[in-house]
Amino acid sequence: MSKNILLTGGSGFIGKKLTTLLINHGYSVSILSRTERKPSKDITYYKWDIENNYIDETSVLKADYIIHLAGEGIATKKWSRKRKKEIIDSREKPIELIYSVLNKNNKSLDAFISASAVGIYGVFTSENICNEETPAANDFLGETCQKWETATESIKSLGIRTVIIRTGLVLGKGDGFLKKLTPLFKYSFGSIIGTGKQYMPWIHIDDLCSIYLLAITNTNMNGPFNAAVTDNTNNAVFSKALAKVYNHSLWLPKVPSFVIKLIMGEMSNIVLTGQRVSSQKIENAGFKFKYSNLEPALISCIK
Ligand SMILES: NC(=O)c1ccc[n+]([C@@H]2O[C@H](COP(=O)([O-])OP(=O)(O)OC[C@H]3O[C@@H](n4cnc5c(N)ncnc54)[C@H](OP(=O)(O)O)[C@@H]3O)[C@@H](O)[C@H]2O)c1
Repeated sequence: MSKNILLTGGSGFIGKKLTTLLINHGYSVSILSRTERKPSKDITYYKWDIENNYIDETSVLKADYIIHLAGEGIATKKWSRKRKKEIIDSREKPIELIYSVLNKNNKSLDAFISASAVGIYGVFTSENICNEETPAANDFLGETCQKWETATESIKSLGIRTVIIRTGLVLGKGDGFLKKLTPLFKYSFGSIIGTGKQYMPWIHIDDLCSIYLLAITNTNMNGPFNAAVTDNTNNAVFSKALAKVYNHSLWLPKVPSFVIKLIMGEMSNIVLTGQRVSSQKIENAGFKFKYSNLEPALISCIK
């Protein structure tokens, strides 16, 4: 019988693409969602309500692997105190809920794999290339990722192999970060943001999904792994490449940092700062990027 993989947040941008890849590799896929969904031929849906500590326990009891992608959008609303709590709770509490089911039922898993983000290294720009040993930052994103990752310790304490995928900006077709930018660049209204020197560690969605697949099959993988290309893509490089893909060149002036700060508040740090990350550890685990150059990656998302 095929191994069952339970995805939290499986209905999202990454989850949908990962579901297809897993099914194509012969896994059976279940999804935990806050919304009642119609069952499909290939996917079993289970319901949970994190705020009220409700989870359909069968989802966990039938799982061989769990991949935790669920979480409120980091950049969808301004970071009020309430919003910050929602962002953290929506990542931490699901892990606590899953742990309680595993613990209560003395149930094990082949592995628990959780998303995290390269934001753990902090929202500032430096020439440093962050690796998995680089300490977490004290700013909001650093603390969020740290709490998200620390929550997985309870599952690890049950003797379950636990892997964390510290994800960069995910480039994919019709969704995610590019969905917001492409209309501007398509009609030649894109421009560099702030100084343009802030690094943008990126990864193509196909590569990210392959990393999750590797985390399932490579039983030597444990702990955090950066999932982003190590290159010199900063905002200026990225903006020029995206304009080029649409056969334009940038003509508008840079958008000044203070304008972005006025519009986005503290959240502006996400677009105004950025550091490079090292992909050495995931490559040492046997991963080969299909997309390591920005332009072909962008073309595949747009054409
Ligand atoms: N996309 C990126 O560039 C990127 C970069 C770094 C890290 N990541 C991380 O990777 C994970 C998946 O990203 P994504 O882009 O696929 O996100 P997404 O499209 O926003 O999907 C996230 C999913 O999480 C679930 N969710 C949202 N709010 C929730 C809440 N309050 N409680 C429980 N579940 C909730 C939703 O599923 P239901 O509506 O079905 O419940 C949603 O489909 C996220 O944790 C994200 O932070 C993404």
